[in-house]
Amino acid sequence: MSDKPVRIMNIVGARPNMMKVAPLMAEMKIHREIDPLLVHTGQHYDYSMSQVFFDQLNMPEPNYNLEVGSGTHHSQTAEIIRRFGELVAADRPDMVLVAGDVNSTIACAIVAAKEHIPVVHVEAGLRSFDRSMPEEINRLLTDAISDLLFTTEESGNMNLVKEGIAEEKIHFVGNLMIDSLVGAIDLARQSPLRRELGLTAQGYAVLTLHRPSNVDDPGQLTRTLDAILEVAERLPVLFPCHPRTAARIAQAGIRGLKTWESGPISGNGLWRMAPASYLDFLGLVDQAAFVLTDSGGIQEETTWLGIPCLTYRENTERPVTVTLGTNQLIGSDPERLRKAALAVLDGNADRSGGTRPPLWDGKAASRIVEVLKRYWLDRPLTENHLAQAKL
Ligand code: UD1
Repeated sequence: MSDKPVRIMNIVGARPNMMKVAPLMAEMKIHREIDPLLVHTGQHYDYSMSQVFFDQLNMPEPNYNLEVGSGTHHSQTAEIIRRFGELVAADRPDMVLVAGDVNSTIACAIVAAKEHIPVVHVEAGLRSFDRSMPEEINRLLTDAISDLLFTTEESGNMNLVKEGIAEEKIHFVGNLMIDSLVGAIDLARQSPLRRELGLTAQGYAVLTLHRPSNVDDPGQLTRTLDAILEVAERLPVLFPCHPRTAARIAQAGIRGLKTWESGPISGNGLWRMAPASYLDFLGLVDQAAFVLTDSGGIQEETTWLGIPCLTYRENTERPVTVTLGTNQLIGSDPERLRKAALAVLDGNADRSGGTRPPLWDGKAASRIVEVLKRYWLDRPLTENHLAQAKL
């Protein structure tokens, strides 16, 4: 057995990958058996969608940046495959680790699997059972070709077993996103944004919206924002706006939103702002009356923080946030959205605070690293990949 550390290429591409990979990189660095590398595909590239997360999560500069940028799903995925393929040919790692369900995840997993490099998937097994979501396709395919699958909740284990994934590949380790949250929450609570906005605790709501199903159809987007504008007559609703959504709002010619750039907020209304940094966003969510979102990760963060979350989707791939946490799945009908938000404001919704799911304790990274080390040490017994790669 060689003493050489195992070289693991960790992939980030889009914003939600950052808070999953940051605690892993930090943990890997303290184990001499591991030599972690960081690859940024460049799927997200704006300062506010990428670099600010590197800075606030203390992530090292990537060893490689593939700089793919935006495009259609197909061209973006294809371009990542092409560029990552070239990288792997030039600098072959021992393992490739991908996170979540974005296009960068499946693209890099395909390259590694075809090169017979073991693929590690963190946040495996989540299923919305809705194949119209691009992320669901990414999840199914990535899990099918992964060698090690790390899950965040019990549903993930069950889904993988049902799909025929061998149980010895599956490891229930908890939630890396919560590792980052646990590490950042004290700083987030000191973030000056809420004070600058002049908001009192529970005196406002937070909105995020970026799913293609909610923002790409101008009719659905207009009706949704109309419903939220009605809710926003009761309290300020802060809306850190994803670039994709900002573009769709402009294209649809939607009016009535207010724009926040700096200083205290002057009253109720739907306040659009630039995408928030990690610490600013967590600081806002932590004191919100409720959060309205179609994001995946925010359902988990609100559950850990005990903040009511209304998820504006027909399904969730994170059912534990509903069964144990504070998440309520309200569908994607604007009228239901209006009623559910008003019910929270009128005190008619369940506000019990929920409980934190098992193993969401800030220690997922150390559990994952222990499994990775064991896997690598035991590897001579299962040297299949290497043997094939040498053919
Ligand atoms: C991607 C993920 C989604 C995740 C989301 C978080 C996929 C399939 N989707 O969606 O699961 O929840 O990230 O944000 O991978 N843009 C910029 N600046 C950027 C990045 C994007 O302006 O830094 C704009 C571009 O116009 C781009 C659009 O946003 O076309 C969408 O970006 P893209 O990466 O294709 O998907 P997201 O909607 O961000």
